[in-house]
Amino acid sequence: MGLAVLKIGGSVITVKSRNFRVNRRNMDRIARSLSRLYRAGWKFVIVHGGGSFGHPVAAAYGLSKGGLEGRKLIGFAETRYWMSVLNLKFTRRLLDAGVPASPLQTSAVAYNRDGGLCWVNSSLVAEYVTRGVVPVLYGDVVLDVQRGASILSGDDLSAMLAVRLNAESLVYVMGAGGIYDRPPGSPGARLMETVDPRSKLVLGGTRGIDVTQGVRRKLDAAFWAASRGVRVAVGGVGVVEEMVRGEEGEYTRVVWR
Ligand code: IPE
Repeated sequence: MGLAVLKIGGSVITVKSRNFRVNRRNMDRIARSLSRLYRAGWKFVIVHGGGSFGHPVAAAYGLSKGGLEGRKLIGFAETRYWMSVLNLKFTRRLLDAGVPASPLQTSAVAYNRDGGLCWVNSSLVAEYVTRGVVPVLYGDVVLDVQRGASILSGDDLSAMLAVRLNAESLVYVMGAGGIYDRPPGSPGARLMETVDPRSKLVLGGTRGIDVTQGVRRKLDAAFWAASRGVRVAVGGVGVVEEMVRGEEGEYTRVVWR
């Protein structure tokens, strides 16, 4: 049985409209799925997003473009605090489901350069995995060698760890349930079975690949991991096990061709 790296979207485990409110139901569904997979012999690295614990705080202090001067210093510390709180709450749910989940503070094992991941201690993460621990990292505000500090996206971190640790599977769990050929919920929107860099995705009436910053970024990271031989899937909480195992299901496979 192999290693799976999972990025759990912040909008899945938190309530987007209510700051600092977790979505316990989704946390527990994911925890039960991971518990079954763990008992079947899978190893994991988990990376979760910020949702309503990370984004509102980072935005309130103007951290989206980075910086560590003036009141951004407090913003850095506040964002770090709230991400740790979310991390502990999610870890508790995983522990209660019998998964040996152990928080790993992203900003203590990684830093950025100019807003993008520059270095991550992937060999330390690999050591935990080898010993059977399930490290739980997250999108975080981290030190940045040019900007003082900046946000490290969980999407990028999970792709990097999947490639470095030679993962069999990289799974992005998101609220929308996969990648659609046009905005989810709009008339005629269809869940894509597979998506590749040449796929035509339409958003807001424009042609070609044009998706929101969030999904665009996720796909870039996903294509990169797929190009390095990792099996990549994007889908909802109900198909986590199928995605990890690479079985048929209602989700989107990300391929490089
Ligand atoms: C964001 O991480 C972390 C912070 C805002 C500090 P992600 O970009 O991975 O989070 P989600 O999944 O979009 O919420």
